[in-house]
Amino acid sequence: MSRHLSIEKALGTAAAQLTKAGASETPKLDAEVLLAHVIDRDRTWLMTWPERTLTPEQQEQFESLVARRVAGEPVAYLTGWREFWSLPLQVNPATLIPRPETELLVETALQLMTPDSTVVDLGTGSGAIALAMASEFPEARILAVDASAAALAVANRNRRQVDGNRLALMQGHWGDALAPAQFDLVISNPPYIDPEDPHLGEGDVRFEPRSALAAAEQGLADIRVIAEQSRQLLKAGGWLLLEHGFAQKQAVAELLIALGYCEVECHADLSGQDRVTRGRHPGDQESTGNHFL
Ligand SMILES: C[S@@+](CC[C@H](N)C(=O)[O-])C[C@H]1O[C@@H](n2cnc3c(N)ncnc32)[C@H](O)[C@@H]1O
Repeated sequence: MSRHLSIEKALGTAAAQLTKAGASETPKLDAEVLLAHVIDRDRTWLMTWPERTLTPEQQEQFESLVARRVAGEPVAYLTGWREFWSLPLQVNPATLIPRPETELLVETALQLMTPDSTVVDLGTGSGAIALAMASEFPEARILAVDASAAALAVANRNRRQVDGNRLALMQGHWGDALAPAQFDLVISNPPYIDPEDPHLGEGDVRFEPRSALAAAEQGLADIRVIAEQSRQLLKAGGWLLLEHGFAQKQAVAELLIALGYCEVECHADLSGQDRVTRGRHPGDQESTGNHFL
């Protein structure tokens, strides 16, 4: 790029580069988000002042970010944050970038929670799910667990996004270290992609931690562990809520039913994909009336 570009020209040049490289499905948006980040304004400001020129430092920083985006790095890692449940959350390459689809998991959880519920979010990453729940139910006791110390450091910084101090963070392997029968809700968006899935080699996911994405047994290994452990972790009548791949509905439902969960039900996201399955701890009763919608 030449020196002293206007905002309009800088955006046009960057969008053209991203388009030419096939680096993004949203080149114009990506360019706007990156430039807004560089000049510390919002996108509306960019649209309002298209003729303003960038300083040489801003231009250099913008060109460097665009070059990294052309090489495939996700916009959220370049800016260092992503919005989830209207919370601006820090992210870095140690954390999965929270997905809009995961808001369905949160919505389903909120319908099952009461203000004083005790909840554990297994595999919290940036803390997205736990923090979204805490923002809606500040009195709920929420434990957020992750195996990754680096991810938990990010989740810890994101805590300032919510009021209250009833959110705890813990490093651990799923529910290994947790005492039984203490949770009203176990919620998890675990790794569930088949390690052989070619999508792992494409687009933004190439830059996300493999340990946050892929699981053995065609993506079902971690779901199996969490479902087994949750039978012990949940109070009688408590709920397990899992996000999974759209093709895993049947396998997850069969697993939950085999483990004795009742009221097993799958929820589709806005695009009609089956992405969230819930099951209820049967309590002292022998599980009856299982159904799968
Ligand atoms: C798909 S990411 C979900 C992150 C976050 N909950 C979200 O929805 O954006 C899965 C998370 O599980 C964590 N994880 C993977 N294996 C784990 C294990 N054995 N025990 C605990 N957490 C684990 C990863 O570090 C990652 O943060």
